[in-house]
Amino acid sequence: MDFEAAAGEVHALLGENGAGKTTLSNILTGLYRPDEGEIVLFGRPVEFHSPRDALDAGIAMVHQHFRLVSPFTVAENVVLGDHRDVGRSFLLHTRAIESKVGELSGRYGLAVEPRARIWQLSLGEQQRVEILKALYQDARILILDEPTAVLTPQEADALFETIRAMASDGRTVIFISHKLHEVKAVADRVTVLRRGRSIATLPTNEATPRSLMVGREIELGRQNGAREVGEPCVQLEGISAVGDRGVQAITDVSLMVRRGEILGVAGVAGNGQRELAETIAGMRAPAAGTIRVQGRRLRGGDPREAIAAGVAYVPEDRLGTGVAPGLSVGKNVVLKSYRKPPVSRGPLLLAREIRELAETVMRTYDVRASGPDVPAWQLSGGNLQKVVLAREFSGEPVLLVAASPTRGLDVAGIETVHSYLRGAASQGVGVLLISEDLDEILALADRVVVMYEGTLVGERDAEAATVEEVGLLMAGGEERS
Ligand SMILES: Nc1ncnc2c1ncn2[C@@H]1O[C@H](COP(=O)(O)OP(=O)(O)OP(=O)(O)O)[C@@H](O)[C@H]1O
Ligand SMILES: [Mg+2]
Repeated sequence: MDFEAAAGEVHALLGENGAGKTTLSNILTGLYRPDEGEIVLFGRPVEFHSPRDALDAGIAMVHQHFRLVSPFTVAENVVLGDHRDVGRSFLLHTRAIESKVGELSGRYGLAVEPRARIWQLSLGEQQRVEILKALYQDARILILDEPTAVLTPQEADALFETIRAMASDGRTVIFISHKLHEVKAVADRVTVLRRGRSIATLPTNEATPRSLMVGREIELGRQNGAREVGEPCVQLEGISAVGDRGVQAITDVSLMVRRGEILGVAGVAGNGQRELAETIAGMRAPAAGTIRVQGRRLRGGDPREAIAAGVAYVPEDRLGTGVAPGLSVGKNVVLKSYRKPPVSRGPLLLAREIRELAETVMRTYDVRASGPDVPAWQLSGGNLQKVVLAREFSGEPVLLVAASPTRGLDVAGIETVHSYLRGAASQGVGVLLISEDLDEILALADRVVVMYEGTLVGERDAEAATVEEVGLLMAGGEERS
């Protein structure tokens, strides 16, 4: 692979899941050692033996999955790993560090409180900490691996301004994304990768749409055939729940999904969607209200009870709660069904059956990995996500709760997931689709509700609803029920 980026340039890397974007970045940041080839930095050949070497040379990366220490503060995380501070006492320098962090965040529009602890921050804020950390270490080249995948559209716009500011300071930003409109909005040039090769580098204004990525175009049209809508499969009555920071995250939410129906929950991230999904999945105890699945009341707050009742959950935070990175892909696939045949008999886990099941699932969902025995952490971000989806879809659920199920997937992956959601619904599964992507919700759902500040505001028939109308509700425009 050949790749070249200039100083002061925003250079995008585009390519399908597993194309090699993260791997290339890992080589540039000294995490992986290339078998062959040469890296030339500002005219000089360099060899990195560790991420430390790359950092010393001025290359930093914000990973697809963050690497912050959650009980530590923002300022502590920013200096963590900065060798220049080794031997000095953090305590003595806290003030100085906090003020430098404050100065950097002001200069680049990275609003975050230096004394806040990581676990208190949203994903968008955590990303700002990662960027601050790179700036603190004087990175001249900054690689951002799918930075917008965890951002709301407003946060993404703010990030683009930060990126432009870094580039006009003469830094190089390498920006990885699956979204061409973002690439067009922020990058000067784009390099397209396919199956481990770079196939083209061109100025972004010459880049044509999705054909670049998968060699074909897709349409996100509505194609919901007539589906049988049946009995209620989940009913929530007056559900309230408290969020991680101890404040009430959802208030008096009532909703119902019937079998065979896709109910879209639209909303800007952070308005209680995650807490709602976790409450239904038994991962968060409701403070008030009742949950019924197929008419049977759940005690709540018990994931195994929810699984047994037929609730499947594709969480937003795929790596944190979705997979066990150290286990093989095969084991991750059976993570929820290991108590049942065919993969176990009594207390015994049946290795061959696990392998066969995993192979089938990997084939069906087009999970690109060399086999079911590779550890999950080796998969590319998009393929990891397919593993979680595959596991949840294949458990024959009654209700499927899917939070941003296509985030981070390439065009082909999005198509696969959409057809599975439609397929599940036409087999009588009730689907609760949580997404910020209005086009996606309007294309897939039968009905749409909007979540705003922890309550449901407005319900629409998806076929008749418009993006403008639902978008207004998402922004808190009137109509609170
Ligand atoms: N440490 C590793 N050992 C073996 N194979 C790996 C390792 N890391 C990545 N791979 C494989 O290399 C290929 C490229 O992966 P990479 O993570 O670079 O893709 P990507 O372009 O970033 O995809 P995505 O958009 O899904 O994040 C994949 O097939 C992946 O499984
Ligand atoms: Mg990747």
